[in-house]
Amino acid sequence: MTTTRLLSLTRRVHASFRFFCQIRCVRCFQDVPNNLALWIAEQRCSRKTREDTREDTTKSGTRWGHPGRLKLSHSAYPPRSLYRSTPRPRASRRREQSTLSTHHARRPASRPLIKLQGGAGVPLAPLLSYSYTTLHSLPSPRSVLLLTDQLIAMGSYVQAEDEIPVYESGAEALQKLQEKWKSTAAPFPAMYSSVLGGIVLDPAMMVLPIDDHMVHRGHGVFDTAMLLDGHLYELDPHLDRFLRSAAKAKVGTPFPRDALRSILVQMTAASGCRKGSIRYWLSSGPGDFLLSSSGCPTPAFYAVVIPSDYDQCRHGVKAVTTSVPMKPPLFATSKNVNYLPNVLSIMDAEERGAFASVWVDEQGYVAEGPMVNVAFVTPAGELVLPDFDKILSGCTAKRLLALAPRLVDAGLLTGVGTKHITVDEAKTSLEMAFVGSGLPVLPVVEWDGKPIGEGKVGKLMLALSDLLWEDMKSGPDRVAVPYK
Ligand SMILES: Cc1ncc(COP(=O)(O)O)c(C=O)c1O
Repeated sequence: MTTTRLLSLTRRVHASFRFFCQIRCVRCFQDVPNNLALWIAEQRCSRKTREDTREDTTKSGTRWGHPGRLKLSHSAYPPRSLYRSTPRPRASRRREQSTLSTHHARRPASRPLIKLQGGAGVPLAPLLSYSYTTLHSLPSPRSVLLLTDQLIAMGSYVQAEDEIPVYESGAEALQKLQEKWKSTAAPFPAMYSSVLGGIVLDPAMMVLPIDDHMVHRGHGVFDTAMLLDGHLYELDPHLDRFLRSAAKAKVGTPFPRDALRSILVQMTAASGCRKGSIRYWLSSGPGDFLLSSSGCPTPAFYAVVIPSDYDQCRHGVKAVTTSVPMKPPLFATSKNVNYLPNVLSIMDAEERGAFASVWVDEQGYVAEGPMVNVAFVTPAGELVLPDFDKILSGCTAKRLLALAPRLVDAGLLTGVGTKHITVDEAKTSLEMAFVGSGLPVLPVVEWDGKPIGEGKVGKLMLALSDLLWEDMKSGPDRVAVPYK
């Protein structure tokens, strides 16, 4: 793209923002200057261009890919007016922080309102594709760009005096929903709903009943499975855990296990997607708005395909101990939908510049991360993971424990096992990693600001990562998806 064309596009987008959009922060609901939003867009875009192969940007499940040629412009610094009293910074990292801290006057400059990096990575491409393809045909002048920590999202903005449209017919409402999705490529290629009794490909139809007790009471469980090269990895161990979670949560199932499994495979085939993950839920189902689910006649099963372009992690990340209270074992050992502590815990980590947090229990024993298990190589060369009695028994962690003895045979490790590990002991490890679906092993090089081992990605975690990655690519527990 020539510079002239780039500049002209940038000007058009600037103009369109001004004309069409109010830009508000979802935290404080105050207006955010358009040029700040656009500057964030530009920075995100160019960051993604540089870092498009980074695992943490692809892990998020985003299907947008990196925007590459969609770069808007290259203003080296944000407009001076956007700084509070921060001097023009040198390093690009400081530049982002000081710029973004300007919106919330009370926020210290070291805590950016909007982070441009981190586990999320979702972010800007939706805005950019919106900008390019449909900014000139936004649904209404009331469209608003909402700035969140993670993304810039398009939504409709309502003021108190506005009369809210009433859609009497389902067809009209569906048309509205379809309009919402029209402007952007469908993010999820297939969903199954037992309420509907089939698979849908239209994102406008990927909905849940509002009276479903999983929606308004959190009475539901879920699980996942990775999809790689058109194969579902370890679907059966995940399904087993899913049904164990359901039993603990007293959630029934509308179909037997083999039918659930068959639905998941058929849905994945219908999606045409070959890389990403599937996620599925059992819920006590729709019925009423009471607390008990006794008024819900049939449990519900929902599932969705989430494309993403993940890869084996070979870089190191930071971890922090979180102060968000840990879930008690009854809730932590099953994969139920009550993930608020997990959400707050990862947000805590992201706000502190880490990839994820680590829970430490009241006795000082290491537990797990908000969506990962943790693993350590002790100074004696042993691979240890915290016991699974108070935490989720991760399918990836279990597989790692099964494969790691190969490194003992090769003389690289001295032993493999689980035990209660104190945080002090864990911090003396030679190596540390997060372990979970989609990573599968992500080395941790720093914990609470202190290096783990030499503060570098170690060879043992990489060797374990290779074992798991090989297993995902060509191991025995892969279900070939029967695409048409
Ligand atoms: C709290 C928690 N711990 C651990 C894990 C890792 O489990 P798995 O390896 O089965 O993905 C997850 C996965 O989502 C999780 O949510």
